[in-house]
Amino acid sequence: MTSLLFVNAAQIATCAGAARARRGAEMRDAGVLGAGHAVAVVGDEVAAVGARDAMERAYPDAERVDCGGGVLTPGFVDSHTHGVFGRARFDEQEMRAAGVGYMEIARRGGGIHASVRDLRARSEDELTALARERLMRLAAYGTTTVEVKSGYGLTVEDELKSLRVVGRLAAELPLRLVPTWLGAHEIPLEYRGSPSARGDYLRLLTDEMLPRVAAEGLARFADVFCEPGVYTVNESRRILSAARAAGLSLKLHADELDPSGGAELAAELDAASADHLAAVSDHGIAALAAARTVATLLPGTMLFLGKSRFAPARALIDGGAAVAVASDFNPGTSPTVNFPLILTLAVSQMRMSVAEALLAATVNGAAALEIADRVGQLAAGFSADLALFDASDVREIPYWYGDRRCRGTWVRGKPCHQYELGIG
Ligand code: NIG
Ligand code: FE
Repeated sequence: MTSLLFVNAAQIATCAGAARARRGAEMRDAGVLGAGHAVAVVGDEVAAVGARDAMERAYPDAERVDCGGGVLTPGFVDSHTHGVFGRARFDEQEMRAAGVGYMEIARRGGGIHASVRDLRARSEDELTALARERLMRLAAYGTTTVEVKSGYGLTVEDELKSLRVVGRLAAELPLRLVPTWLGAHEIPLEYRGSPSARGDYLRLLTDEMLPRVAAEGLARFADVFCEPGVYTVNESRRILSAARAAGLSLKLHADELDPSGGAELAAELDAASADHLAAVSDHGIAALAAARTVATLLPGTMLFLGKSRFAPARALIDGGAAVAVASDFNPGTSPTVNFPLILTLAVSQMRMSVAEALLAATVNGAAALEIADRVGQLAAGFSADLALFDASDVREIPYWYGDRRCRGTWVRGKPCHQYELGIG
């Protein structure tokens, strides 16, 4: 078994502590160690974190990784992306600038529908090549775990095709990928003729698509875009209940643009996460604070859509909810691969502390994927997923906004994105 000893870091943000979502005041301490500490990795796990001298003696044969005075963190856990898609949708950015809103673009047949037309015309191999390149860009910014949703197929075969792309890349890439079935991302245009056609699509989802996804083991989670004009709370409840019965865990796009009770539904169903929440009500905040459900905030989406309202991170954390942050990487509302930029938005726009933002990006992202027992911390027994940054203080990661400071990542003890600054 190979062993590595990460030495000469200016700081190590361990995020060590309880192996579950951190909530409220528990998010204040990211476990930052100063210079003179080291991380030992044996095989695919962190073996120990401690004073360098003792670690040098305990692991004399380990290969040294010189961190060059940088900052070491657990690799970021990006718990919400739509990483399988075809063409980019830069045309819509200008339309929004000219005053046509996101939902209006969708009503005109653009938005998600445009990506659906495009994805249906592409082969699994073509989509795999596109996603491979895009996911490795995420890794280049410090991300080591990525949740990837389907949702641009919206037929049985095109949804299965999208999830197979995730499965293939999970086996091939050094990144850890977690697949989510989002067949309920929109009502496809061909099912919009009548209320009964809408019902037909709901039946297709629960009676045909879901059983295939479950039988082929293609997804760990099911998700629904619960939003006025897309899926109602009752429809979302019906789809997610069927998904749970089929053995999937649950997520929900909830209260993104307008409040409709999505947060309350996610809490009621004991979903792993309720995502977006920029328009969550006070009642929804209270429901999440009382539930296991992680509130996953996606500030990149609000930035890119030109909204001035961000999710109420302070009210959620201060109310006792577990908050995660994620990129929402997708072609329509958040085409960014830059996770540190999400941390910048967390601190500057959502008024989170750096410790809160870091825990939201690691431990709580892992909790939103139900893997917080083994991912998200630099502590003995956790997966050896690390990111090294060109910085001497952890607060520089959100500070140098938009910059790419990541020097390298490791997943399960193996190099993922390689050094570019010539160290190591
Ligand atoms: O999370 N809100 C729904 N889904 C995506 C956007 C998808 C798209 O516009 O392509 C989101 O923002
Ligand atoms: Fe999304």
